[in-house]
Amino acid sequence: MNKDIQEILFSEDELAAMVSRVAGEINRDYAGKDILLVGLLKGSAVFITDLMRKIDIPCSLDFMLVSSYGRSTKSSGMVNVKKDLDEDIEGRHVLIVEDIIDSGNTLSAVLELLTSRDPASLKLVSLLSKPSRREKEIRIDYLGTEIEDLFVVGYGLDYAEKYRNLPYIGILKPEVYL
Ligand code: IMP
Ligand code: MG
Repeated sequence: MNKDIQEILFSEDELAAMVSRVAGEINRDYAGKDILLVGLLKGSAVFITDLMRKIDIPCSLDFMLVSSYGRSTKSSGMVNVKKDLDEDIEGRHVLIVEDIIDSGNTLSAVLELLTSRDPASLKLVSLLSKPSRREKEIRIDYLGTEIEDLFVVGYGLDYAEKYRNLPYIGILKPEVYL
């Protein structure tokens, strides 16, 4: 185990089981349709590549890099798009893929932006969710699992751009923050 990790929350096997279960729900719900997976960089990079390999319906892939303007803004639709989609999503079945939903501010802005481009449908899959932290109500259509208000890293999730490469999800030792 990495020396900075206090405890493993989800092992590789547990993550694989979670991803398979979520992919099964997606395969069932979208049977007969084509979907466009939209990964939000960078955190969802690991999850989306595992998830897409368990999806057995026709599927395309695109990515977006956004940063929320944060809580200082009063407008809910404010999002800074650093890298936009390559694909035109009008009339497409779009599934946003996120690593973790915390306050919900980022997702609420992304949902508003993508809705304005008239997709045939727009849904959200997230590996993790911290419901106790929510500031904006978000409907998560497909969810790996809820977690408590803990800062977690690994499997794409970072602290200061590190630990994304850990194959499990773990809790950082408090001294790493100091
Ligand atoms: P939100 O707009 O507050 O929902 O922000 C969600 C984003 O914050 C996620 O996509 C992550 O990039 C980041 N984030 C939130 N909680 C964690 C965590 O526990 N570990 C690592 N990144 C996190
Ligand atoms: Mg993220």
